[in-house]
Amino acid sequence: MAQRVLLIVSGGIAAYKALELVRLLRGRDIAVRAVMTEAAGQFVTPLSLGVLTEDHVYGALFDLKDEREIGHIQLSRDADLIVVAPASADILAKMAAGIADDLATTLLLATDKPVLAVPAMNVRMWHHKATQRNLAQLREDGIHVMEPAVGAMACNEWGKGRLPEPVGILAEIERLLAEGPGAAEPHPLLTDTTRTINAPDLSEHNLFGRHVLVTAGPTHEPIDPVRYIANRSSGRQGFAIAAAAARVGARVTLVAGPVTLPTPPGVTRVDVETAREMAAAVEQALPADVAIMVAAVADWRATDEAAQKLKKDGSGKPAPLALTENPDILATLGQHPQRPTLLIGFAAETETIIDHAQAKRARKGADWIVANDVSGNVMGGDSNAIHLVTADGTETWPDMPKTAVAMRLIERIADALAGR
Ligand code: CTP
Repeated sequence: MAQRVLLIVSGGIAAYKALELVRLLRGRDIAVRAVMTEAAGQFVTPLSLGVLTEDHVYGALFDLKDEREIGHIQLSRDADLIVVAPASADILAKMAAGIADDLATTLLLATDKPVLAVPAMNVRMWHHKATQRNLAQLREDGIHVMEPAVGAMACNEWGKGRLPEPVGILAEIERLLAEGPGAAEPHPLLTDTTRTINAPDLSEHNLFGRHVLVTAGPTHEPIDPVRYIANRSSGRQGFAIAAAAARVGARVTLVAGPVTLPTPPGVTRVDVETAREMAAAVEQALPADVAIMVAAVADWRATDEAAQKLKKDGSGKPAPLALTENPDILATLGQHPQRPTLLIGFAAETETIIDHAQAKRARKGADWIVANDVSGNVMGGDSNAIHLVTADGTETWPDMPKTAVAMRLIERIADALAGR
């Protein structure tokens, strides 16, 4: 049976990220039922949460209709895990004090299920003694508390207190759900024993400390000072893969073509413009345990880059643009003396996807090809339906967000590297 999360959304600018979290959870076949605090309603609507959860969204404790259909105790009994995301300073304070003055806090006080709190607040609120005291109390009470991320705040300040990225929250939720029977044990709040749960220990993960090299984005091949050859790649899939690898403790080098995406935490980024620069940066980054070539490298460049802007001569003759093939970075790695242990290419195809991907795998000397159908809106879009082509055959994954593709791929890589 699908696992179930009861998601409590409290107030704060980060509440909108709860929507992305729900999408990710649903993409992993985890059922989500949402409860909103009154303050959360200032930031997201019950309608948007309800559409994504495909369920009623609960809000008021004394909503008789809800009470008749499902009591508040039942709401928490039905869940395998309760997640408070974002958890505001206010709801954390209430949880620490055992205050139950609305549906969300009543559920939290009545539950016997594991609880994960994902704090998000202004940096000063985070560092305030009261908040830190409440967090210490919650941890002692056995609540799992995620550390917030550091960065720019909506209020123009900088520091700790940002909601971690939804993919990171998803990973923590999956880790807690995977604890399985342990998670079903009586909640420590209802027993005499207390346990403190620290940040996840990643040292056991197969990718911990390994060097993962990722290319991402398009390349731009100059024609003259104002024009270049490019493609529609957004870089999102490659960045998501780099982020997922870093999150499990890998040492990640991300060679990025011209994109405006932020560098994921813990990732070393090398910005390049052209295919030849990308090839050089990849070479420079070796040796690597795993190389994942996600970039949509331009196959051709202008044979001679014009020093001045090219002018049309009005003769109607074909443009004087000669093209030369770019180096194939993936194929070069396939033959390289320092070939990575696991070499993975991507294949953007518009027809006979699997046949083309199998041929590409052999031609380029890759271990795996992640093939995607780009005849739709994949390039620049948020989701991706892919086929993983390996020596053992082809797996077809359902359409899922690029962040979920990244997580799944990283877990497959970690499995493949086990013992290698
Ligand atoms: N690739 C590369 N260097 C190139 C071209 C492609 O490293 N000069 C890599 C891409 O990063 C991707 C894989 O090769 O991992 C496949 O890219 P794709 O553009 O689909 O393949 P092509 O070699 O261009 O083949 P075709 O155009 O025939 O589909």
